[in-house]
Amino acid sequence: MSTLTVRPVAGHIGADFDGVDLAGPLAVETVDAIKQALHRHKVVFFRGQRLDHASQIAFARHFGELTYAHPHDDAPPEDHPEIFTIDPRRFEERYGKEFREEYRKRQYSYFDGWHTDVTAAVNPPAGSILRAETVPEFGGDTQWTNLVAAYEGLSAPVRAFVDTLRAEHRYGGARPVGEDGAYARRVNDNLLVSVHPVVRVHPETGERALFVNPGFTSHVVGVTAAESRRILDLLYAEITRPEYTVRFRWEPGHVAFWDNRATAHLAPRDLEHLDVERRLHRVTLIGEVPVGPDGHPSESVAGRPFTADHRVAATS
Ligand code: SIN
Repeated sequence: MSTLTVRPVAGHIGADFDGVDLAGPLAVETVDAIKQALHRHKVVFFRGQRLDHASQIAFARHFGELTYAHPHDDAPPEDHPEIFTIDPRRFEERYGKEFREEYRKRQYSYFDGWHTDVTAAVNPPAGSILRAETVPEFGGDTQWTNLVAAYEGLSAPVRAFVDTLRAEHRYGGARPVGEDGAYARRVNDNLLVSVHPVVRVHPETGERALFVNPGFTSHVVGVTAAESRRILDLLYAEITRPEYTVRFRWEPGHVAFWDNRATAHLAPRDLEHLDVERRLHRVTLIGEVPVGPDGHPSESVAGRPFTADHRVAATS
């Protein structure tokens, strides 16, 4: 039996976890050690693994129930509705060239800015597990940032201020229906909108994390539009500070497991001018409804909780 080792790889976030074969049966102690590493380091990397769809799902189930692939995916791999495949060729096949033109910056992932997965849902995923199948020889790295460190780095008066705020997160509805292509129509037909506390109390560690992200947060509620923009600018500048981040270089077989309640991540944007292949597969763990420092939970404005039976319904 090999020894488990956890080696931090950056000052505030990220650790390599060695000595485990994720495709094999996992001892309870190993699952506990992975949970502890995740709580402490927020994203954990497992190099050179040999997972396929079924074993990735089996591994993930040690940590909770899984969501459907993605709120706007209508074609996960056959027999594996939990798998969300990230591959630009797939998006182009499904939504046509217009998708690639219109969302040029999303060519190599499905989302191009800093984001926490699916925070437009009232119960954003608790964690995400991403596995690389095909990666380019260079480029295509993913970055994560520690939202607890970003919160703790604020001055006490600003922490006290943001503790009181709530913000709307939305997936879709920003553009008039009919103006865009099939993907935009699908998103508009299935609006997902929630109001979350700006500071989220982690249900397992009790830590406070900044819970806003440029990908999904539309505005801070109860303040003017100009105030909201400035507050969010301030918080986005904090969560994207280089010192809170880690950057991961993928190889086929590598796996990243992140705590989606305490991190945001950034898909690569350095491949848009290159004709290279990049294909990864993600599963997400069903999350709970976030709670703020005042004990108030998030509220759903549109759409259903993101669970295993989530399905989209698009009009043509
Ligand atoms: C994701 O946002 O889950 C995908 C990240 C990536 O493509 O690197």
